[in-house]
Amino acid sequence: MIRLAIQKSGRLSEDSLNLIRECGISFINSSLKLKTEATNFPLEILFLRDDDIPGYVADGVADIGIVGENVLVEEGREELQVQKLGFSRCRLSIAVPKNEAFDDITALEGKNIATSYPNLLQTYLSGEGVQAHIHTISGSVEIAPSIGLADAICDIVSSGSTLISNGLREVQTVFRSEAVLIAHQNLATAKQQLLDQLLFRIDAVRKAQK
Ligand code: PRP
Ligand code: MG
Ligand code: ZN
Repeated sequence: MIRLAIQKSGRLSEDSLNLIRECGISFINSSLKLKTEATNFPLEILFLRDDDIPGYVADGVADIGIVGENVLVEEGREELQVQKLGFSRCRLSIAVPKNEAFDDITALEGKNIATSYPNLLQTYLSGEGVQAHIHTISGSVEIAPSIGLADAICDIVSSGSTLISNGLREVQTVFRSEAVLIAHQNLATAKQQLLDQLLFRIDAVRKAQK
């Protein structure tokens, strides 16, 4: 039995479940259960918060996982990556209140920026030679400017509708991301064989989509 961790609810959840189904794996999915077993493949699926997935896979609590590259790189766990999956593409971007002037990134010098991705943002700002105060919050980042918590935000943008709904304007992309498959680094032989079978099926699914 191999244990796969996927996001419980969020941008990656539906795409992750679809990939498993397209691999010909059946399971019963009730939104309240946080764990389910496939009926025709030795696979157990755990539904977790995406931020927790790299840590669980690194520790071997889960054998494999599907997570955004944004989370993986933010947490410094790139060594777990097995392959990119080509779905749930998004970008990590800086946004400011829509009527705020913004000529270039130096406009952020000395400003407060709210984000859930302090490491990715710091790397970007350092590369640009800009010093800002990074305020780390774990969610609802888009609300920060309107409640006076920050001058700008840095968060995940997919369709862009969350930014628009909160009166924000995207001004700079910091990082581009997509879903990736990750695996524990010392899988037992039997689990490695199951992972190989899974990778073979994923490869076939992706070829059929092209
Ligand atoms: C991101 C981000 C926004 C949303 C943006 O959340 O925090 O809430 O997606 O998408 P949109 O541009 O299509 O409106 P994510 O699903 O990554 O989940 P999390 O922040 O709760 O982990
Ligand atoms: Mg999250
Ligand atoms: Zn702060």
